[in-house]
Amino acid sequence: MKTQKTIRAALLGCGTVGGGVYKLLDRRKEELADKAGASLEISAVLVHNVNKKREGVDPSLLTDDFERIANDPSIDIVIEVMGGIEPARTMILRSLRAGKNVVTANKDLIAVHGSELLSAARENKVDLLFEAAVAGGIPIIRPLKQCLAGNELSDVVGIVNGTTNYILTKMFEENMDFDAALEKAKELGYAEADPTADIEGLDAGRKVAILASTAFHSPVVFDDVYTEGITKISSSDIKYAKEFDCVIKLLGIARERQEQIEAYVCPMLLPADHPLATVRGSFNAVFVHGDAVDDVMFYGRGAGEFPTASAVVGDVIDVMRNMEYGCTGRIGCGCYRSVPVKQFRDVKNKFFIRMQVINRPGVLAAIAGELGRHKVSISKVVQKVITKGSAELVIVTEDVKEYHMSEALEDLKELEPVQEISSVIRSY
Ligand code: NAP
Ligand code: HSE
Repeated sequence: MKTQKTIRAALLGCGTVGGGVYKLLDRRKEELADKAGASLEISAVLVHNVNKKREGVDPSLLTDDFERIANDPSIDIVIEVMGGIEPARTMILRSLRAGKNVVTANKDLIAVHGSELLSAARENKVDLLFEAAVAGGIPIIRPLKQCLAGNELSDVVGIVNGTTNYILTKMFEENMDFDAALEKAKELGYAEADPTADIEGLDAGRKVAILASTAFHSPVVFDDVYTEGITKISSSDIKYAKEFDCVIKLLGIARERQEQIEAYVCPMLLPADHPLATVRGSFNAVFVHGDAVDDVMFYGRGAGEFPTASAVVGDVIDVMRNMEYGCTGRIGCGCYRSVPVKQFRDVKNKFFIRMQVINRPGVLAAIAGELGRHKVSISKVVQKVITKGSAELVIVTEDVKEYHMSEALEDLKELEPVQEISSVIRSY
């Protein structure tokens, strides 16, 4: 049943995501009263440049003055889609303290200041929702907080960066080299002009911090997450991955083991029969294990104008429903535990090591001996003769602590028959 009630909202930012949110809210205009019990009016759009033409956006709404929004008591929802830490943090805090609900897509901010912002939301009994901050259009925050709340979750493993998944897919399926694949990702608008945060794993690291805090009810911030990117992956590594019936994916890993949280991002060899191995191109997916649900995987578009707007608008509709029933602030910060984050040096993984060695009797025994001395157990060895005198040796290890592996690698480099350690990649 339609009502005459109107809820007023302000958009902070009108770029890729903000533009998408504006257009999608317009597309859903007629249904909102039925879906959310009220209609929604965007009454201000904060931007840097008010003179820039923005397709489909009413220019009279544009402002570069946040005070106009902060001091307008008729605005009940602030939708922050401008990005960055400041001034977004201050604007969100001011909005929450003024009793306004906030929806944000800002992973950089939530991964660092999530606890502070969620506490402010709780104190003011308003919503702070951020579904779009992890994996764009894929519903994952709400499933972790609500649908899977009956579980004790142990594993959240994701392909949460579209740019790197696109690059690795092109390298794997079309033998493209890294630079060519990155250029193509830029052309298609997946990678930023400065793609550092994507290819060095920082963007994924922020999402892992948010996923880990949400899944394990314990604060994890971006600084707690070890990050490693994909820039060192070569076509030779891809060739061996295929030979071992694996793919290489940039995985974001959040795990709880023995009352400790492991949180890291790195490229990994992943068996081809793992559900995440089938996630190709710019798609994202998050694989979750819970004690009751078993395995569950969420798949879809992790970025882009409308996929991200889909998550933001879903949050806005949730806020409107909560307003209708007078229950905003219903689901706030879920961090009721303080589980320590394990130092990365103590995390255990299997390793794939590719090295160039002198080809003569006793070399393999010397290398195996050095690894053994550092508690590294070998599960597989492949040797290919490259020239008469030298060979390429690939060793896959059993699970080993990071610090044992790095000490072993330091000593291996000094071993006389080892000419070069060409790659070290973890294996899932
Ligand atoms: P964007 O295209 O660069 O747009 C940013 C918008 O914010 C622009 O309209 C800009 O104004 C405005 N803005 C930035 N700083 C401002 C300031 N200090 N005062 C006023 N206006 C300001 O960014 P985006 O790609 O839409 O991303 C927005 C947020 O969504 C980020 O937090 C991002 O991490 C997140 N996100 C993005 C995606 C995606 O696919 N793009 C996916 C998931 C999450 P002007 O237009 O005047 O420059
Ligand atoms: N740059 C990100 C990606 C999208 O490539 O997945 C925004 O989170």
